Amino acid sequence: MPPSSAMHVDGPTIRTKLPGPNARRIIAEDQRLISPSYTRSYPMVAKRGHGAIVEDVDGNEFLDFSAGIAVTSTGHCHPEVVAAIQKQAAELLHMSGTDFYYPQLTELAARLSKIAPMPGPHRVHYGNSGAEAVEAALKLARYHTKRQYVIAFYGAFHGRTMGALSLTCSKAQQRRRFAPLVPGVVHVPYPNLYRRPAGSDAEQYARDTARHIEDWVFRTEVPPEECAAIVVEPFQGEGGYLPAPTVFLQELRRICDKHGILLVVDEVQSGMGRTGQWWAIEHSGVEPDIVCTAKGIASGMPLSAIITRASVMDWVPGSHASTFGGNPVAIAAAMATLDIIEREGLRNAREVGEHIMDRISEWPERLPLVGDVRGRGLMIGIEFVADKKTKAPSAEARDHVVDLAFERGVLVLGCGPNTLRLSPPLIVTKQQADIALDTIEECIKLVGAGNYKLPNWGE
Ligand SMILES: Cc1ncc(COP(=O)(O)O)c(C=O)c1O
Repeated sequence: MPPSSAMHVDGPTIRTKLPGPNARRIIAEDQRLISPSYTRSYPMVAKRGHGAIVEDVDGNEFLDFSAGIAVTSTGHCHPEVVAAIQKQAAELLHMSGTDFYYPQLTELAARLSKIAPMPGPHRVHYGNSGAEAVEAALKLARYHTKRQYVIAFYGAFHGRTMGALSLTCSKAQQRRRFAPLVPGVVHVPYPNLYRRPAGSDAEQYARDTARHIEDWVFRTEVPPEECAAIVVEPFQGEGGYLPAPTVFLQELRRICDKHGILLVVDEVQSGMGRTGQWWAIEHSGVEPDIVCTAKGIASGMPLSAIITRASVMDWVPGSHASTFGGNPVAIAAAMATLDIIEREGLRNAREVGEHIMDRISEWPERLPLVGDVRGRGLMIGIEFVADKKTKAPSAEARDHVVDLAFERGVLVLGCGPNTLRLSPPLIVTKQQADIALDTIEECIKLVGAGNYKLPNWGE
């Protein structure tokens, strides 16, 4: 959909008190009809989007630094993506790749094979969501290795279906009253350089964190020859926007090689160019065995995939499939998305990401509430603390900054207990980044000075 003539292209324009009258009506309906399990931070009711701008149902325009949780990689309704969807929708909506053939399945698989972070040949299995990709990886790892155990990490988020949820270890609420989950999953620490023991060497700390698996888990709990996979986010997302140090990932690879274990990387949030490379794991040079991708792959159409070394995907017909997985319309959106990311998204993510990091890298020195900033490309976290010395986390400061930014027309989300994440579309401009950062900085200063009134959206 083209932008409405009234829509600005660069920054936010707030025209009503938030939420506006139409938003209020829809939220009231939502509260009556929709599952109360969703976590909405603020009352944003979207109507249309273009690039990094989303317009709500009352004509307010927001600068979207959440990208629908890192999904609208090419921006909202990129004209090339929309055209590809429209063309494909008029030709074939669905056929089911589980029982029939169609060319889109192989076209996208060949494309993914070209950009995969490990040498080919590869094979691809399609699904519709990140959780489905993780389910497929989990099942394939067990199938291929004929082993039961899987190692995942504290802070990890891999989705909410039962298998994926068993690997997820981010918030207790996500697991509460759903046990027993899939057995055989063991969680181990994930490195957080900002919170490593005072005085410790960063490399040594990261190496030791990985070695916990050999030193403790394999010695006391899981015989290594019974371990199918280590599943890791090379850049932890929901857990707090934490990039894994290179040496940590190298150690995981070494451990996997030594014991015949598969290294599965969950790139659902960090992949598809978000960190300025196709995959976050590429920053380390480590080659995984299975890659999970979803979110940004199709700019908002539901699609996921696992890409594996061909030798790993050795399951036989009937082992695993999904009716909708690899839907031709979603694949058409993915092909256009890959074109755009390749042409401009990767470079832009690096350039604008560096621009953002240049601007915010001195925030921890200048702003008392900011303990740490970290990121790669356009996957950037700002961690809030109540006290710089003790590093006591401040969820409250983070939440208030998120709310105040919304009131000023900038959409951001939290992650982890006390981190604010920046995950704009990969086509965001430096000018838009400056507008968002000016707003966020202003909000941090207001919260820091206690000089603000929290919006009361119920009024
Ligand atoms: C790293 C990671 N894996 C898996 C998922 C689950 O994806 P979905 O919500 O599409 O099932 C997410 C979602 O946030 C994620 O960030």
